[in-house]
Amino acid sequence: MEITSRKRLMVFAGSANEGLAREVANILGTDLGGVEREVFADSEIYIHFTESVRGADCFVVQSHVSPINFHIVEQLIMIDALKRASAKRITAVIPYYGYARQDKKGRPREAITAKLMGDLFVTAGADRLASVDLHTGQIQGFVDVPFDHLTALPVFVDYLAKTLAGPTTIVSPDAGGVKRAARYARHLDASVAFIDKRRSTDVRNKSESLEVVGDINGRHCIIVDDIIDTAGSAVGAANMLQQRGALSVRLAATHGIMSDPAVDRIKNSVISEVVISNTLPVPDDAVDLPILTVLSIGSVLAGAINAIFTDASVSAIFKGENM
Ligand code: R5P
Repeated sequence: MEITSRKRLMVFAGSANEGLAREVANILGTDLGGVEREVFADSEIYIHFTESVRGADCFVVQSHVSPINFHIVEQLIMIDALKRASAKRITAVIPYYGYARQDKKGRPREAITAKLMGDLFVTAGADRLASVDLHTGQIQGFVDVPFDHLTALPVFVDYLAKTLAGPTTIVSPDAGGVKRAARYARHLDASVAFIDKRRSTDVRNKSESLEVVGDINGRHCIIVDDIIDTAGSAVGAANMLQQRGALSVRLAATHGIMSDPAVDRIKNSVISEVVISNTLPVPDDAVDLPILTVLSIGSVLAGAINAIFTDASVSAIFKGENM
């Protein structure tokens, strides 16, 4: 007996950011796969796929937004259900990868949660992972399956290039982000600066901007970061830039978590525009922020899923900028 094998692409949405998953499916010319989801009285999650996934190349799109633990477990359960239903290959598509900031021990007796997340997804049955602008690139190596690291850089650069106001400096709010800032600067013909930031080791989400290194006096500054969580880092950096003579300060970050009090901090700051992507849904209190611009990374995710499905190069989409 001979059969000609055909590949079938299926995209499934977790409940965290269905809008983005739908946009991705539309670009790929398909519909979202059917999922029935319920929550038991004790808050356990129930998942049932309403159509056959046997032999399909399945992509499960889920962002790790608050309530983050719920959304992570939901994605794990979806992957487990697909595996047990004989999906041929399962890719966990994680536009925002949660727990990534704990990627090494800062103190004795701490966990390395970025690694734990990878282990959980692989154990659940993910054959590969894909994520956007990981907190640090080396998280790719925390799993022994392919991990495609995508970047929103082309989308941000396109937008920022159209809105430059004059001599510009791209500012990293900490030393760890200088490589990212340098990439943006190269595309925008800008210079690079960074803030010497100290994080508190015993209080979460607390940091202090100590000094700025680089040429910012009389220049328009764009702070570029991976995450806006409470906006403490960004607003601290913005204040320092203004004190040191910046003409204007804008903020661009891939993942707009915007935990309280981010919106209030931004409203009361010197930041004139905040540019984020839709890796995460925009929180209710930020929707009406007049200085907020949200860029879609739907085409980035769809391009990567298409490349994975057709065995084409993912890095070619980003011209190598995703390393
Ligand atoms: C830190 O290393 C990250 O790149 C972000 O700068 C940080 O997580 C942002 O957090 P927050 O907005 O709470 O300062």
